[in-house]
Amino acid sequence: MYVAQPIAWTDRGVIILDQRRLPAEEISYTYTDYREVAKAIREMVIRGAPAIGVAAAMGAALGVLHSPAESVEALRAEFAEICDTLAKTRPTAVDLFWALERMMRRFAEFTSQTADLGKIRQGMVEEAREIHLEKKATDEAIGRYGAEFMPREGQVMTQCNAGALATAGIGSALGVIRVAFEQGKKIHVLVPETRPYLQGARLTAWELHKGGIPLTLITDNMVGHFLKSGKVGAIVTGADRIAANGDTANKIGTYQIAVLAKENNVPFYVAAPVSTFDLSIPDGESIPIEERSAAEVTHFQGVRIAPDVHAAHPAFDVTPARYIAAIFTERGVARAPYSDALRSLASATSPALIAR
Ligand code: MRU
Repeated sequence: MYVAQPIAWTDRGVIILDQRRLPAEEISYTYTDYREVAKAIREMVIRGAPAIGVAAAMGAALGVLHSPAESVEALRAEFAEICDTLAKTRPTAVDLFWALERMMRRFAEFTSQTADLGKIRQGMVEEAREIHLEKKATDEAIGRYGAEFMPREGQVMTQCNAGALATAGIGSALGVIRVAFEQGKKIHVLVPETRPYLQGARLTAWELHKGGIPLTLITDNMVGHFLKSGKVGAIVTGADRIAANGDTANKIGTYQIAVLAKENNVPFYVAAPVSTFDLSIPDGESIPIEERSAAEVTHFQGVRIAPDVHAAHPAFDVTPARYIAAIFTERGVARAPYSDALRSLASATSPALIAR
């Protein structure tokens, strides 16, 4: 089945598919400068929590690879600047910071073991590639755990795009749907368009269509209508950051879907890797919510659709844990009470990675 490739490390540089142009055009760029990778993350050439983590790791590796530094000391100073630039791109998805912290730990290990800049550069490239490989394995494991919870047949709803484009693997929420579909479950996906950036209409619809998974595209204000119909068996979304108590930040609009799900007795599930946990914060109140440009609300692909008025654009919202029926990860399924479940998954070893 078709799996989109949003990012790849090659000898020529990091190749990133421009998700802003989908579905109209499939255009990729080759990056050799970490600053350009940072810009690509900020401007949503690549987006989706785990995918921007992979991009940040590859950006950090590019920075080290092309650094003019001639000593470990000079490289260390430049590496701090590289990580800082990449960290300042998008604030909500914790995978970005997880990936950078991992690259920083690796850098510290290498530089404490050797002063050979060639070895350090090579090692950092290998670490970034390893992070990418791991995302593929974790998605597949998330998919296997989550597929058990999908109905044998009927409608399943998602939100935004939590597919291959968003994770650089097979997808988290869409990975669950994909595995269930491949297991023979007769699933039909309801895809809310996800205003204002239209990740549902442009990206999820594109991915599912290319993968041969049946779907119906709906506008965001149809969600309640369809959930009330009694024909939706489950909802599965991705996540950008999961606090210690299970409160989950995801694309704006997810919270209202979760509340409507509860009202209509439809189970609402979250699919995300353990790297999306942020156990350092107690609950969703502390999750930083990215404010994006109001022009993305007042304009549609550059065309003004509203008068010149004030518009708000919080890019994410937080779904309280009490609305979440279960969280699927690569290490197993978390159920309420989430504080205990998330802590034990975070300290467990990943079967997905052991199996590789
Ligand atoms: O602003 P985006 O497109 O980066 O937001 C993406 C989402 O909110 C996804 O649903 C989330 O990252 C989960 S992706 C596996």
